[in-house]
Amino acid sequence: MTYVPFARKYRPRFFSEVIGQEVPVRILKNAVRSGKVAHAYIFAGPRGVGKTTVARILAKALNCINPKDGEPCGKCENCLEIDRGNFPDLIEMDAASNRGIDDIRAIKEAVSYTPIKGNFKVYIIDEAHMLTKEAFNALLKTLEEPPPRTVFILCTTEYDKIIPTILSRCQRIIFGRVREENIKAYLKKICDQEKLECEEEALSAIARASEGCMRDAASLLDQASVFGEGKVNREVVESFLGILSVDKVSGFMKLLLESKVDEAIQELRDLYNKGYNLSKFWDMLEEEVRNALLFKSLKDPTGVLENTESYEEFRDYPLEALLYLENIVNRGRLEARTRPALDAYELAVIKTLIVKEILPVSKALTKVPQELSGEPKREESLEEKIRSGLSPLAYKAIERAGRREEDGKVIFEIEEKDYETFKEEFEKLKRQVPQIVFEPRKKKDQRKDTTSLF
Ligand SMILES: Nc1ncnc2c1ncn2[C@@H]1O[C@H](COP(=O)(O)OP(=O)(O)OP(=O)(O)O)[C@@H](O)[C@H]1O
Ligand SMILES: [Mg+2]
Ligand SMILES: [Zn+2]
Repeated sequence: MTYVPFARKYRPRFFSEVIGQEVPVRILKNAVRSGKVAHAYIFAGPRGVGKTTVARILAKALNCINPKDGEPCGKCENCLEIDRGNFPDLIEMDAASNRGIDDIRAIKEAVSYTPIKGNFKVYIIDEAHMLTKEAFNALLKTLEEPPPRTVFILCTTEYDKIIPTILSRCQRIIFGRVREENIKAYLKKICDQEKLECEEEALSAIARASEGCMRDAASLLDQASVFGEGKVNREVVESFLGILSVDKVSGFMKLLLESKVDEAIQELRDLYNKGYNLSKFWDMLEEEVRNALLFKSLKDPTGVLENTESYEEFRDYPLEALLYLENIVNRGRLEARTRPALDAYELAVIKTLIVKEILPVSKALTKVPQELSGEPKREESLEEKIRSGLSPLAYKAIERAGRREEDGKVIFEIEEKDYETFKEEFEKLKRQVPQIVFEPRKKKDQRKDTTSLF
């Protein structure tokens, strides 16, 4: 028997088998059930998420002899022929390879014939955005006066490239990327049916690497099972994909957050020497940092992030440290474009030396006066105290005064006259701020080594 790749073997044959496209499936099933099928649909969405698959199921549901509740029966002659790919009223066309007007003419001609066998003639035009302008125009004429019992399904990964006049004549159905957990469940099902031994983590790695694309997920699993001779375990998958598990990436991220630069650089070199694709690793790191940031900043991250539990470990790092890290990692990626990747990433790692010192703003502020602030800041806060503790006139006297520091005290040498005038105020202030001393000073014997305060 010839080998059928998983992606084909496990292509859904019923709406109910389609994974993760609840909205498109519901709309189409309802349309079939209620007999309100549009003349033309646009199936838009990323590659490998089920557009062609669903288009075929729709064709089946429309032509099935015994449809049930919007689903095809899967057993009648029409269903079987569609599954086998030899049903005369289902015409599939790949616009990427048949781009010309002649192909569209062929469609237009075919359209004038009524369905041969089924209820509907269904045209599936894959990669519809690749049609030439002329082809689009020819198609447009057909869509303007749609022949009865004909359904066009234009599938595209690039919705923006389809001209508005076509768009306005089609019902748009949006297909989304499939969520990681759904991909994982799909892979698990394949493993069960194929009796493949698989590790949970291996499936997670594949699901993640396929980035929402079911076709990629299926074929990665296919390759991994061949590579691992029937066993799909994490190590096999990782080395096979040339990627690293998320655990490794988040472990590395932790090293950076804790400024363990030696270890991080060692790790980076290890990966490099083992032949891993560092840029891919860095991309994963960037994503991990971004996710940790989302986790920390959103009130309810569960709607946005998958596996929120795995980000718990970053909860205690200050947001500021994560933001700073994000910046460094991002810069590292940009720099890797203009110099050897390892150099760029090592430099980025070195820049994380101070990440550990970063405090949340709230904490940093309370620490400023004693520990962190330099001279200028202390003066500032002292100035505030003085300014608020004195009347404007007395304050002016301070401005005129000299100033020196001794044993941690700040001594103001006030002109004698000022001193006498504002004595009471000064004394009151001194009780509040014991660090300050006021002394009278004779105008003539101004000290050389004093400076004005402000
Ligand atoms: N939603 C899904 N549920 C289950 N399997 C799916 C789904 N989407 C894709 N697949 C699997 O991926 C394969 C490819 O899917 P399909 O051809 O429908 O993708 P597509 O969206 O038309 O992609 P492209 O834009 O590349 O044509 C299918 O054979 C099937 O195995
Ligand atoms: Mg397709
Ligand atoms: Zn049927």
